Amino acid sequence: MAIVDKALDGCTALVTGGSRGIGRAISIALAGRGAKVVINYRSREDAARETAELVEKAGGSAVISCFDVGDTQAAMEGVSAAAKDHGLHILVNNAGIAINGLLMRVKPEDWEQVLRVNLGGVFACSKASVRYILKAKEQGRIINLSSVVGENGNAGQTSYAAAKAGILGLTKSMAREFAGRGVTVNAVTPGFIETDMTDEHLPEAQRADLIESIPLKRIGSPSDVADIVSFLAGPEASYITGQVLRVNGGLLM
Ligand SMILES: NC(=O)c1ccc[n+]([C@@H]2O[C@H](COP(=O)([O-])OP(=O)(O)OC[C@H]3O[C@@H](n4cnc5c(N)ncnc54)[C@H](OP(=O)(O)O)[C@@H]3O)[C@@H](O)[C@H]2O)c1
Repeated sequence: MAIVDKALDGCTALVTGGSRGIGRAISIALAGRGAKVVINYRSREDAARETAELVEKAGGSAVISCFDVGDTQAAMEGVSAAAKDHGLHILVNNAGIAINGLLMRVKPEDWEQVLRVNLGGVFACSKASVRYILKAKEQGRIINLSSVVGENGNAGQTSYAAAKAGILGLTKSMAREFAGRGVTVNAVTPGFIETDMTDEHLPEAQRADLIESIPLKRIGSPSDVADIVSFLAGPEASYITGQVLRVNGGLLM
């Protein structure tokens, strides 16, 4: 259930990978609460523009910003430029990729790419945002998208699981570093959510078995995750930091 208020009026949120899937739903949810949203993307400008239009149709305001979170220099410059132009109170580290395969077959370059984007991206964007977010004091938020796979592992996803587990350590350490300034840092661990990422990596034959294994008997929607991110971004979550919120239909308890 989306929170409907304007508690984020006057705040700017940067959502990495905000152009599609979960990031799109997060962008719309934060804009719905009054935040100006900077929608980051890497390659699909069409999708980023479409998300910006959806935000504006919902009465919010959005700009798009292209940079590769896996390129440390580019990511730090992209975040700094967005913060200088629009201010920065809330960073949602959502951009992520999956390159799956059993460890025996994983190519070292694919391992490096997954770690660079999924974990290096969170490091680079968070590092570049710190000076702005600390100035935001009690309104400052960093929210990181990890995964149930980071908590529980998954055969065929060693690099993805390692990166997503790394995000949890990074989240808790940043939470400790910034708590003195009132800034909170939390992680969300989605289970299986209906997006391009799961479409690509979940064969139809496995879908029914997967749904059977989820206590709530459905795959999640991007808005299931966006609503929790929107909650963590708001004033009602100001006493929550260093936490991992599971949004997985009961898959992992
Ligand atoms: N879907 C799930 O079941 C699930 C479950 C647990 C966790 N998650 C996590 O939730 C996050 C969003 O997943 P999703 O399912 O919404 O993925 P998705 O549908 O594949 O969308 C990925 C988004 O990330 C952007 N992106 C990818 N690589 C990027 C890079 N190097 N720099 C900047 N942007 C980049 C994409 O932009 P472009 O199109 O421009 O490349 C796109 O906006 C990811 O971190 C994912 O690991 C997803």
